Amino acid sequence: MLLNKNILLCVTGGIAVYKAVALVSKLTQAGAQVKVIMTESAMKFVTPLSFQVLSRNDVYYDTFDEKDSRVIAHIDLADWADLVVVAPATANAIGKIANGIADDMVTTTLLATTADVWIAPAMNVHMYENKAVMRNIETLHQDGYRFIEPSEGFLACGYVGKGRLEEPEKIVSLISEHFNSRKKPLPLQGKKVVITAGPTRERIDPVRYVSNFSSGKMGYAMAEAAAALGAETILVSGPVCLAKPQGVKVLDVESAQEMLEAVLSHYGDADIVIKSAAVADYRPAVVQQQKMKKKDQQMALELEKTTDILKTLGERKEGQLLVGFAAETVDAIAYGQSKLEKKNLDYIIVNDVTDPGGGFGSDTNVVTLLSKNGTHKPFEAMAKPMLAKKLLESIMEEEEVMPHDR
Ligand code: PMT
Repeated sequence: MLLNKNILLCVTGGIAVYKAVALVSKLTQAGAQVKVIMTESAMKFVTPLSFQVLSRNDVYYDTFDEKDSRVIAHIDLADWADLVVVAPATANAIGKIANGIADDMVTTTLLATTADVWIAPAMNVHMYENKAVMRNIETLHQDGYRFIEPSEGFLACGYVGKGRLEEPEKIVSLISEHFNSRKKPLPLQGKKVVITAGPTRERIDPVRYVSNFSSGKMGYAMAEAAAALGAETILVSGPVCLAKPQGVKVLDVESAQEMLEAVLSHYGDADIVIKSAAVADYRPAVVQQQKMKKKDQQMALELEKTTDILKTLGERKEGQLLVGFAAETVDAIAYGQSKLEKKNLDYIIVNDVTDPGGGFGSDTNVVTLLSKNGTHKPFEAMAKPMLAKKLLESIMEEEEVMPHDR
């Protein structure tokens, strides 16, 4: 229902915080990615750990506790969200949002987001009907915030009246309806995107292999981003320790040869191919059937070239949009440009893997996108999922019609 939707839940301090825990559970079960920000007072009711476990994400509560030095957390969260839900929203939080006050992680992030913000109030009935609160709610209505009206019933304070946080099931169904009604065709709807990720392993004997340090994070992020944009996404993955992305068909392979075969089997009807994998350029010329025994002081291993998958695709191109990566340690742009031309690519994403902000294994990357039309677009260090989204958006923008009509 909510597959690949990013929901940012802002939890402020009232007894209804316990319902927000259930809300996170139901949202993740519906396929949403959920991140949670809590106020100090919310943490007096429930600890961040409950939200962390259920959302499987870090929980944020301190504006100055930057968990990742490459990004500014409140801006990063604000940009990440497809929808922000404040639940439960106290009278205090509503007052602050209505007046543009930003004195904690919740209110600072709310000022920074351009996503839709929904507010689910929960408080005593007299507080809810208080003129100041009503005024603040009216201001927020006018500013474009949407409210999930509290329901009537028995309140924690002993009163019976309007003020109960709407039930989590109802909130999830309202959110689902919202995304369904907004559904315009996604930019990559109807397109088939093939992405490769991770390293390859080239066997020496039954217990050893030649490989590299690719973790697959960049390629998996590209696959998640393509699926979120509506593409039928095929991820050809070398051996990695990552969870399979939702909405993506994963083909597990080991060697460069297996990767070549898997990619070619989907190439004919692919619209876009993105080669993020770090494919071995050489493999042992002979694979020993038995474990090699230790003998001389030194030994030489004879290697032979693997097939260059991307070059092969470039030679057989029939209108597919071909996007390569270049992992370089020196003169990155010049080498990237040369690979773009030699492999007949439309785009190449160049990363200097010696850059401390990116490369193999890290959660962030720093890249420059080069196109065959001669454009160069640098991207500063950012988390690989965010970068993947921005890279695809840039390519779509440059292509205008996506991908080439065939
Ligand atoms: O996986 P992570 O830990 O997140 O790290 C990300 C990354 C550094 C691996 C990624 O950002 C990256 O740069 N991937 C490409 C790595 C690479 O093999 O680069 P290359 O410059 O050696 O190769 C250029 C292109 O040719 C690549 O698209 C590669 O997939 C392709 N190639 C290379 C050799 C080969 N035999 N067949 C290929 O298709």
